[in-house]
Amino acid sequence: MRVVTIITLLFFCKAAELRRADPGGVKNQRNHGLVGGGRRGSNPVKRSTPDLPCEVYTYLHEKYLDCQERKLLYVLPGWPHDLVHMLLARNKIHVLKNNMFSKFRKLKSLDLQQNEISKIENEAFFGLNKLTTLLLQHNRIKVLTEEVFIYMPLLSYLRLYDNPWHCTCDMETLISMLQVPKNRNLGNYAKCKSPQELKNKKLRQIKSEELCNEEEKEQLDPKPQVSGRPPTRKPEADSSLCHIYVFPIQTLDCKRKDLKKVPNNIPPDIVKLDLSYNKINQLRPKEFEDVHKLKKLNLSSNGIEFIDPAAFLGLTNLEELDLSNNSLQNFDYGVFEDLYFLKLLWLRDNPWRCDYNIHYLYYWLKHHYNVHYNGLECKTPEEYKGWSVGKYVRSYYEECPKDKLPTYPETFDQDTEDDEWEKIHRDYTTKKQSVRITLVG
Ligand SMILES: *[C@@H]1O[C@H](CO)[C@@H](O)[C@H](O)[C@H]1NC(C)=O
Ligand SMILES: *[C@@H]1O[C@H](CO)[C@@H](O)[C@H](O)[C@H]1NC(C)=O
Repeated sequence: MRVVTIITLLFFCKAAELRRADPGGVKNQRNHGLVGGGRRGSNPVKRSTPDLPCEVYTYLHEKYLDCQERKLLYVLPGWPHDLVHMLLARNKIHVLKNNMFSKFRKLKSLDLQQNEISKIENEAFFGLNKLTTLLLQHNRIKVLTEEVFIYMPLLSYLRLYDNPWHCTCDMETLISMLQVPKNRNLGNYAKCKSPQELKNKKLRQIKSEELCNEEEKEQLDPKPQVSGRPPTRKPEADSSLCHIYVFPIQTLDCKRKDLKKVPNNIPPDIVKLDLSYNKINQLRPKEFEDVHKLKKLNLSSNGIEFIDPAAFLGLTNLEELDLSNNSLQNFDYGVFEDLYFLKLLWLRDNPWRCDYNIHYLYYWLKHHYNVHYNGLECKTPEEYKGWSVGKYVRSYYEECPKDKLPTYPETFDQDTEDDEWEKIHRDYTTKKQSVRITLVG
């Protein structure tokens, strides 16, 4: 709880900075949040809640929450339950979880536009039986079904445009719903982004035959290499190859599955993800964006050569990261910035290259002294081979006369650091096990 508050506060400070930097821009955007207009006319009674960075106010007897542009990831506990309008535009919400809004039984309008929503769980809108207006435009939703909307019988105004709609058979129920004549304000202007055949077609104008036949065709004909057209893309790596366990913690085991990419449909509740012994040679931006609960990630023995600075974005709960036995030479600036709770980091058996590019990693680790790591030893260039990276970085700043160079104090020796690390890891694991035993017994 406290941690969430701190993070939120941090985000808030950042948002405030931005606002200071560009007051005009933000102000100008402020008023197109809600349909109906005039919500903040003459004299709204305002009251700011001291423990929340958001504004709660009453206007024409209806309670508003204005929490726009706060880098929020979730609905925060502590918001009043009798809100009628909730303004959450321009945050960083990725997933709408089941029952996320179920406490807000009086809600009539919900503005979620300009977030990063890519997933909406089936019961995300449970309990919103007074909701009439839902704004989901400018997000990253690809597929939705009618099921999501069954909890909102009064919904009469729905915005869905500017989402990358993937118009296949899965979308049939939603599209039929939008086309019912009485729903004339649901989903106007929303267009398909893919597949190519339906690109830019409006959801409200697609016929269900167009949606479903396309898929069948692809399935019947596995090689549609029509000349002049690029070959159809290979399906993304699929997590259904992996084993899923729910006990004792939600685990997705994708070990030795010949994966060349991080699977794109990892269930959002996964706490432990094993991707070891695959063939993932690079990590692209936002690979783990939707798995916020992830605590342990094993990427060992993959041949990873490159990690995009945004690859670990959203992994704010990650505690253990195993990157051992890969082909990493250094980390780009920023790779670790989202890993607030990292505790253990395995770096062994990588060809660490001791030049200026390794400094970021070293200083990040030095700065985050509660992160225990192992295996940071120079492999190249030849002159530093076998040195610990710490020793190399320190030597970089010391202009010692040549004859003094080899005499480094014992403490700089990576072996001792590694032994120390093993001990810490052992203690850590034992501690956790004893906690588990206490809980069980
Ligand atoms: C990661 O996977 C490898 C191989 O499957 C295993 O040996 C190693 O212990 C795992 N790392 C962690 C931190 O569990
Ligand atoms: C290291 O990774 C490679 C694949 O990149 C694998 O073939 C090898 O067995 C791994 N080594 C160990 C000790 O796990």
